[in-house]
Amino acid sequence: TDDRISRISSSIRVIPDFPKPGIMFQDITTLLLDPKAFKDTIDLFVERYKDQNINVVAGIEARGFIFGPPIALAIGAKFVPMRKPKKLPGEVISEEYSLEYGTDIMEMHVGAVQAGERALVVDDLIATGGTLSAAIRLLERVGVDVVECACVIELPELKGRNRLGDKPLFVLVT
Ligand code: PRP
Ligand code: MG
Repeated sequence: TDDRISRISSSIRVIPDFPKPGIMFQDITTLLLDPKAFKDTIDLFVERYKDQNINVVAGIEARGFIFGPPIALAIGAKFVPMRKPKKLPGEVISEEYSLEYGTDIMEMHVGAVQAGERALVVDDLIATGGTLSAAIRLLERVGVDVVECACVIELPELKGRNRLGDKPLFVLVT
């Protein structure tokens, strides 16, 4: 496992000053270029979640759409997209969340999940935790049990974990 984590970690490219001066951008597109690192990433999540009776994998647009679906397929769960506003065609429920500057909205289709289902929320990275906490709120509003959040990368200095309350967060690379 340590071998796999090291390979995953070294496959992530860091780009300084993107998109703004002072930001060290964690670029997972280079992880996707390494099929072994990509497979190991998915395998590590699947090994953790395969026997937890999870029936929903909720993936957050955009980069949660890369990691969520292969996990969902491997554990036999449905995949539910959590989208930016005005993208989903059916009836939606929405949740506002704060960004560094201003706010954004996350949407989910009504009827995609049922009360009592067990969900895993997947994204590439947790920074302030605003994005993941909005996803948790959306799912819990309709009675879904959010078992855990899973990300490839955590930026611990931003303390995003604290915004998830008592919700467990599992990450591969810190
Ligand atoms: C990034 C990242 C996470 C989120 C984390 O997404 O992919 O989803 O920010 O930030 P937070 O913990 O401070 O909320 P972004 O909104 O930049 O867009 P993208 O995934 O669509 O590229
Ligand atoms: Mg994102």
